[in-house]
Amino acid sequence: MSAEAYGKYNQKANFKPKIIAKTPSQIERIKNRLNQAFMFSCLEEKEVEIVINAMGEVKFSQGSTVINQGDDGDNLYIIDSGHLDCYKKFSNLEKAKYLKTYEPGESFGELALLYNAPRAATIVAKENCILFALDRETFNHIVKDAAAKKREKYESFLAKVELLESMDPYERSKIADALRPFKYKMNEYVVKEGESGDTFYFVEEGEAIATKVLQPGKAPEIVYKYKAGDYFGELALLRETPRAANIVAVTDLSVVALDRLSFKRLIGPLEDILKRNFARYEKFLA
Ligand code: CMP
Ligand code: CMP
Repeated sequence: MSAEAYGKYNQKANFKPKIIAKTPSQIERIKNRLNQAFMFSCLEEKEVEIVINAMGEVKFSQGSTVINQGDDGDNLYIIDSGHLDCYKKFSNLEKAKYLKTYEPGESFGELALLYNAPRAATIVAKENCILFALDRETFNHIVKDAAAKKREKYESFLAKVELLESMDPYERSKIADALRPFKYKMNEYVVKEGESGDTFYFVEEGEAIATKVLQPGKAPEIVYKYKAGDYFGELALLRETPRAANIVAVTDLSVVALDRLSFKRLIGPLEDILKRNFARYEKFLA
């Protein structure tokens, strides 16, 4: 056994999970929020329980700074109620740049914990907020390895996806947290025309086609072709309609999927690009 592995093993053995007493209603609220937080989606039930035990409710009043860029970080936060603004100082800009507003269900403050780095941005409560805080030690033992591995695994893939070109690399890494991988064999259906759909897909590896019945009573015809880096399944989510085509694997196919909530939160800002891209279906048919 190497020294490093032994050290790690030892740390794990010494880890005594923190338990903060809570009311049943607090536990229920934390559970609901954790279910929506992408970073925790890879945890097993037992690990979720440890995280819930360790989380504490904290309140911040309007205008107070929850995280200050440059500080050391000791907590990650999930928002239960209230909105918060995120700003970042850049060396070439005099004033901190506004980046985004966080809403209930979202989490922040993970970077300092994941990468052992100073806080990368400042987060200020826009109104009175209730947050759930998870301490660094529990995060390190339960969440960190799986979350960091997932970000690393998908970062280079997502960087090559044309749809996400205009996206800030930080926002792209949040997509990595939320992705779920699926595999299909040649000729298998990923999506069936007419069914209801709650999932958006990127092709990770392999090829697929979209087919659709263009003349009633006739066999479906090929209406689009997909390779690695392409996406499909946006129409049902944007328009709340049944699937408008079949998607069929034409080789062994690996896809990564986002559910409706992740799609709305993470891909929502790209809605204009998605809508502009509808034209590609007509172009293909022409
Ligand atoms: P952390 O660095 O721990 O503290 C500040 C948080 O701001 C950071 O984690 C992220 O959760 C969040 N954040 C949001 N947008 C960005 C961004 N573009 N770059 C860095 N951090 C960001
Ligand atoms: P959705 O309707 O959710 O599921 C089937 C997907 O096929 C659809 O989203 C598009 O992403 C894709 N598609 C490709 N070509 C077409 C087409 N000509 N008409 C409709 N959808 C298409």
